[in-house]
Amino acid sequence: SHRVLADRFGRVATDLRVSLTDRCNLRCNYCMPAEGLDWLPGDDVLTDDEVVRLIRIGVEHLGIAEIRFTGGEPLIRRGFVDIVRRSRELGPGLGLSVTTNALGLAKTAHALAEAGLDRVNVSLDTVRPDTFREITRRDRFADVVAGLSAAQEAGLGPIKVNAVLLRGTNDDQAGELLAWCLERGYELRFIEQMPLDAQHGWNREAMITADEIFAMLERDYTLTPASEPRGSAPAELFTVDGGRGTVGVIASVTRPFCGDCDRVRLTADGQVRNCLFARSESDLRTALRGGGSDEEIADRWVVAMAGKAAGHGIDDETFLQPDRPMSAIGG
Ligand code: GTP
Ligand code: 5AD
Ligand code: SF4
Repeated sequence: SHRVLADRFGRVATDLRVSLTDRCNLRCNYCMPAEGLDWLPGDDVLTDDEVVRLIRIGVEHLGIAEIRFTGGEPLIRRGFVDIVRRSRELGPGLGLSVTTNALGLAKTAHALAEAGLDRVNVSLDTVRPDTFREITRRDRFADVVAGLSAAQEAGLGPIKVNAVLLRGTNDDQAGELLAWCLERGYELRFIEQMPLDAQHGWNREAMITADEIFAMLERDYTLTPASEPRGSAPAELFTVDGGRGTVGVIASVTRPFCGDCDRVRLTADGQVRNCLFARSESDLRTALRGGGSDEEIADRWVVAMAGKAAGHGIDDETFLQPDRPMSAIGG
């Protein structure tokens, strides 16, 4: 019985983003307060078996072709390597990737590659140790660099680096970030800041826009639109200086790509989110824990997609941030 996760605008979700924990070992100031957040109670978080079962249902019954593990910080999930290994057993062609801050990746990169992980995306907003400490409130820049190198050695590539530019903090560092990534063969993507922070402090004027990013980069580099078709990818890609590398911009706010969205999200406590900005979620955990069959759970999941909005609506008068912050959705 094969169905698909279609919404009423003709989009089909084939890319599942699975949040494995809402906790993080950094405290990026644009994401959460220094003291952290009210984390999910342990009993609410899906067990490894439950996570793997939902992934299996997505793959076997609903046409999911790619899994991205997110957090919080997914590497702090104890069973992570095991979850990867068991996901890989679902099929050799299943795409398996993780988005991580790379703390501790130096230690686990090899085991993750062995377990069947394909690639990693690493969040890094600066290549200056002092700016890193200012943004993340932790003095861990060297760990990220070590994690990136280990991932590359383990074959977890092509490696992408995600950076958010913050006005007055690192917005003068776009060029040096790109130089650093080009040197190491990482694909850098700049992300426009979205209204998803726990403190609800986002405002449009503080956001560094895609146009500003292009203007800054074009002082030092020649960018030409990449030839590969973009498909459903959030990033618009550019070739740097005729072939030194690639740089991307994820302009969720000023150039939304919702019309081509192929994503669906699962929170660490077993709720389906049909959009990053969804105002409501659909509970799969209750069915999972109540003895629901694969068919029943797949049914609920299909229904959850019907309510997916056409777009994030950030520009609407009536826009309201979702109740869960970015760190609990996984981006
Ligand atoms: P690749 O498959 O490697 O291209 O990954 P990705 O760019 O889709 O995922 P990643 O986790 O690296 O996300 C990078 C940034 O894009 C994060 O800030 C995400 O929040 C944002 N992002 C990812 N998916 C979506 C989406 O569906 N909508 C929006 N608006 N932003 C997204
Ligand atoms: N807007 C855009 N990106 C964000 N990230 C965290 N918070 C936001 C936000 N409000 C980024 C992180 C990481 C990725 C998973 O999401 O910096 O690169
Ligand atoms: Fe898809 Fe929602 Fe992201 Fe738009 S904001 S691309 S609809 S997940």
